[in-house]
Amino acid sequence: MESFLIKGGVPLQGAVEISGSKNAALPIMAATLLTDEPCVIRRVPDLSDTRFMVEILESLGAAVMFENGTVTVHARKIRGYADYELVRKMRGSICIAGPLLARLRQARISLPGGCIIGARPINLHLKGFAALGAKIKIEGGYVDAAAKKLNGATMFLGGRAGPTVLGTANVMMAATLADGVTVIESAACEPEVVDLAKFLNAMGAQISGAGSPTITITGVKKLRGAEHEVIPDRIETATFMVAAGATDGEIAIKGGCADHLRAVIDKLNEAGVSVKRSGADMIVRRKGKLKPVDITTLPYSGFPTDAQAQMMSLLALAPGISIITERIFESRFMHVSELARLGADIEIEGPSAIVKGGRPLSGAPVMASDLRASAALVIAGLAAKGATQVNRIYHLDRGYERMDEKLRRLGARIHRVEEK
Ligand code: EPU
Repeated sequence: MESFLIKGGVPLQGAVEISGSKNAALPIMAATLLTDEPCVIRRVPDLSDTRFMVEILESLGAAVMFENGTVTVHARKIRGYADYELVRKMRGSICIAGPLLARLRQARISLPGGCIIGARPINLHLKGFAALGAKIKIEGGYVDAAAKKLNGATMFLGGRAGPTVLGTANVMMAATLADGVTVIESAACEPEVVDLAKFLNAMGAQISGAGSPTITITGVKKLRGAEHEVIPDRIETATFMVAAGATDGEIAIKGGCADHLRAVIDKLNEAGVSVKRSGADMIVRRKGKLKPVDITTLPYSGFPTDAQAQMMSLLALAPGISIITERIFESRFMHVSELARLGADIEIEGPSAIVKGGRPLSGAPVMASDLRASAALVIAGLAAKGATQVNRIYHLDRGYERMDEKLRRLGARIHRVEEK
């Protein structure tokens, strides 16, 4: 297993190029199953998760090529079965269910199960499929969805924590080939849902309202091949912004989208980190001392849960008390005890973390528990005095393209080493 060895205390300086969005690319890659014609997707980040989606598509019978950020998929003939070994490795693989159901009228997929950040049920995905007329059976750890015919329907997809991103994606994809009109109420408004709708429309689907809580899909008989460029990764962008603020650096972000990051930029400003547009770039720099900030994670356009851990590392450096409340996932505070090993003073009370910021951080060996927790530990290591070893960075490689290389180009002293 590999680790990052970081020698902290260097302010980040220079420019960083943002990759395509992992969470937009995954459902878009799955959507290529909806047509027997070839599709070309550009700006796909080279990550273990996207490589894994390639494997899944291939296992379903598609011919796939992934070269220089471009994925070409030709799903001429496919099968509708994804086993446990495939699905358990990546919860996001559930987004193949909608396309399989639409194209083959049946899908048999292993239930993904929970993960370290929470239970992650798929009841809302299944509720949407059932509303379209699919019969759902759960047996032996598998979910079977089958329908002679899918019929458009009006449905409410809001859940305990609000809308569901991949649930919305799945049902939207299934509805593209249904008979009649589907209306999804309480749909997720995330930019990744909008990007997927754009790709589906390029394939010939008729979707309107994506990006709002009401999405309308008028079913069509067939979808065709299409080309698409994936949107920039807003969470990678947020991560580099926070890293610049935490190290008291100044960086230019290239190829990011500020409009997708209003909540993050607003909180960074409040914390004393300025983000200014300069042509197509964003310039991120610290404005004097860091200040404490209260944050609650929410569905888009609220503060993203995927940037919560990184922001906690920054706020651990801000003198005063910050309260971070996690409203999307029930156990997404695994980074707290590892941040404590670096000297941070953070207490968990129910869904909130009370960050008593301002204590100096000092390097230590720490263990990454999930993707965004890993990013938080890297940021804390960059800001800490001395050496930090972040172990188990395979979590980080799932969602950040060449993060160590990008950080080195910004002056960070970070190296990939074999874990001892
Ligand atoms: N939920 C249900 N029932 C469902 C589906 C979800 O109760 O059927 C609950 C979840 O348990 C959670 C909330 O609804 O409490 C939101 O979950 P959502 O379905 O929106 O999450 P997701 O679609 O499975 C995607 C991203 C996550 C990101 C969340 C929230 C992908 C591949 N994953 O997951 O990304 O945190 O949306 O924005 O798009 C990450 O990149 O690190 C990551 C975890």
